[in-house]
Amino acid sequence: MFRLMLVLLLAVSMPPVFAQAVKAPAPAYEPTVGQEGKDVVWVPTPQVVVDKMLDLAKVTKDDFVMDLGSGDGRTVITAAKRGARAMGVEYNPNMVELSKRNAEKEGVTDRAQFVKADLFETDFSKATVITMFLLPDINLKLRPKILAMKPGTRVVSNTFTMGDWKPDETAELGAGGNGNCNESWCTALFWVVPAKVAGSYKTPQGDLVLKQSFQMLTGTLRTKEKTVPLEGKVRGEEITFKAGGKEYRGRLNGRQLELK
Ligand SMILES: C[S@@+](CC[C@H](N)C(=O)[O-])C[C@H]1O[C@@H](n2cnc3c(N)ncnc32)[C@H](O)[C@@H]1O
Repeated sequence: MFRLMLVLLLAVSMPPVFAQAVKAPAPAYEPTVGQEGKDVVWVPTPQVVVDKMLDLAKVTKDDFVMDLGSGDGRTVITAAKRGARAMGVEYNPNMVELSKRNAEKEGVTDRAQFVKADLFETDFSKATVITMFLLPDINLKLRPKILAMKPGTRVVSNTFTMGDWKPDETAELGAGGNGNCNESWCTALFWVVPAKVAGSYKTPQGDLVLKQSFQMLTGTLRTKEKTVPLEGKVRGEEITFKAGGKEYRGRLNGRQLELK
């Protein structure tokens, strides 16, 4: 009885500061722009640029979008809001947890997933759209894996290039462009993984020799009358080129090139 009274007395007389310290929730994690990351620091893509990146890639509900180095999750969450399935790969576990909380706030946890992983050790071959805001040398390291993806896979990068693989489209949203973006890092670069089409083909239009550098095509078209040089592009599996003043369109079907 005496012991019980002592416990009650202690509880009542406990200083309020101590009582508060026990109850106070852990402060929410707040990232700092420029904080260290494994291979790249964290700087968020401005939301207008995220929107433009997903516009360029024409993201729909049928897509599986992967953001390599997903930061606070904004690109993944925006893609999920467009109905796509989306996954962020992020090395910093605090950022992963923050992204999950952000996805919850935005009501997209059913479509937005985040994994704590190294992007260099992650299989992203199932993605139909890749987004990234990394660095030029990291883009270059990833390039062979990206070029080996299914033709037609769309790739968007904030600001940083892919070496001599020139973008199919560029959108400048900063002061030099349409001015919607008032921060730094305001350029969206867009590529489509090209099918490998280099080779020789016999077509009803003539014998075609295609040389390929990424999406750019050169070569020759030989008809009964003459051989003419050609220049063109391959976008996914769609081929377009000009030869002898005429425009041709085609698609590679297995080893067969169907030209129109
Ligand atoms: C410049 S931020 C871009 C964040 C986000 N994609 C965006 O556009 O707002 C790069 C992110 O990559 C993460 N990162 C750096 N190296 C990584 C690696 N090897 N694997 C996964 N994430 C990495 C960093 O922690 C950082 O959050």
